[in-house]
Parts: sequence; C-alpha cells; structure tokens
Amino acid sequence: MQQKIIITIDGWSSCGKSTLAKQLARELGYLYIDSGAMYRAITLYFLRNHVDWTHHDAVDQALQNIKLNFHSNHKSGQSEMYLNEENVEYVIRDLVVAEKVSEVAAIREVREFAVKQQQEMGRNKGIVMDGRDIGTVVFPNAELKIFMTADNDIRVKRRFQELYEKNPNVTMEEVRANLEMRDYIDSHREVSPLRKADDALELDNTNITMKEQLEIAKKWVQERKNGQQDN
Ligand code: CDP
Ligand code: CDP
Repeated sequence: MQQKIIITIDGWSSCGKSTLAKQLARELGYLYIDSGAMYRAITLYFLRNHVDWTHHDAVDQALQNIKLNFHSNHKSGQSEMYLNEENVEYVIRDLVVAEKVSEVAAIREVREFAVKQQQEMGRNKGIVMDGRDIGTVVFPNAELKIFMTADNDIRVKRRFQELYEKNPNVTMEEVRANLEMRDYIDSHREVSPLRKADDALELDNTNITMKEQLEIAKKWVQERKNGQQDN
C-alpha cells in the first residue's frame, strides 16, 4: 500500500485553494481541513462576545472558551466548521467576519491555539490542508506543498459571485477592498506571514479550469508518491 502524504495548499485570498484542496481530498480519500475556517470561527466568537483582542489577557481568556471541530455534513460529505458545537460554516463566510479575520489571525496567541490543533489533525498524514502558513509553519516537512496564485481581478470576480448569491447588497468594490486588505495584512504580519515555501510548487489558475488544476495537482501527487517509493 502506498504511504499517505501531507499536502499543503497556501496562497492569496480567493485564488481557489479550498476548491483544489477539496478536489484532491475527494480523489485521494484524504481528510480536508480548511484552516482559514478556524481563524474565521475564532473571529466570529470574538465579535459576538465583544472580546477586546488588543489585550492579551482578554484573548487568552476567550480562547479558553473556544472549542473548534470539523464535522462531516451527512448529505454533502463536506467537512464543516463547528464553534462550541454550533455549525458556523455558513455565517463565517460573511463579509463582517472577513473584515476582521486578518487582524485576529495576526495575534500570536490565536495562531498558537490554531496551529497546535492543525498539527494534531495531520498526525496520521493523509490530509490536505489549505491556508497561509501550512507549508511554512504548520507542516514544514509536508511531502507536497502547493502555492496558488491567480490574477487579482479574477479573484475579486470569483469571490464577488459567491458572496452576491448570499447577499445581493454586496458590491464588487467592497469585495476588492477586503481581498486587498487581507492580502496585505496576511503577508506583512510579524507572526507566520503568508509566503511561498522554498520547496512549494506554484500553481497559477487564472486561466485554467477546475478540472485542469486538479489534473496538474494529481500529477504532482503521483510524482511525490513515486519519489517516496524510490527512496
Ligand atoms: O478563503 P479565503 O482565501 O478568503 O480566506 P480563508 O482561507 O478563509 O482565510 C481567512 C483569513 O484567515 C485569511 O485572510 C488570514 O487572515 C487567516 N488565515 C491565516 O492567517 N492562516 C491560515 N493558515 C489560514 C487563514
Ligand atoms: O480557498 P480560496 O479562498 O483560495 O478560494 P476558493 O473558495 O476555492 O475559490 C474561490 C472561487 O473561485 C470559488 O467560487 C471557486 O468555484 C472559483 N474557482 C474558479 O472559478 N476556478 C478555479 N480554477 C478555481 C476556483
């Protein structure tokens, strides 16, 4: 039997990371973990409970009351984010959460809290995880690291379409501003900034379909698995 591997997918906001991660996990029978959902759920908790995240004590206290879990949806088979046993998969995608998530995700204690759980989830390998620091910090020894990019306008358009379906009041400019702000904060923060790991393979999906991106990634997976067998 072939060894299971760890696959990390990092990159800019809305460039198709979770789409590819889900596709790969389904193909390989691996676990899919959306690490961004964890930062979004923590942010939702902070917003709902008026946590002043500029104070370390308040953050430490709040984190003690947060329990994060992923449960599989019986109908779709997709893993969904639970915050203290409440399904928050839908509400964490809201722009209200997206407006604050990069600020919250830049806090050292928040990252330590999330990273520890992410590493535990990958203990038995056979996992695809997407985010910003998965190949650099969470699983620096992952067998396959992918760094995704896509043209800015395309990313804005794709995310706008998603959000517009839920809320027709959302504007393209709002979405653009949010993506730009998050990309800036995520790549400039002190703790675990977004960057391409030296050994990551870059995938630009501006002009390729979801089917094509899966084919490219599957080829990389096979190469890594073959490489493992040769060793
Ligand atoms: O799906 P999208 O690209 O919009 O973002 P996401 O993956 O849901 O992540 C939301 C936010 O969480 C990002 O903008 C980052 O601020 C933070 N994040 C992070 O700091 N580290 C990760 N591994 C994943 C997400
Ligand atoms: O996870 P991330 O924020 O990087 O992006 P995503 O949620 O996977 O993708 C954002 C949107 O782009 C989704 O609506 C995807 O269906 C769409 N997408 C696409 O149109 N073409 C691709 N090659 C990849 C994603």
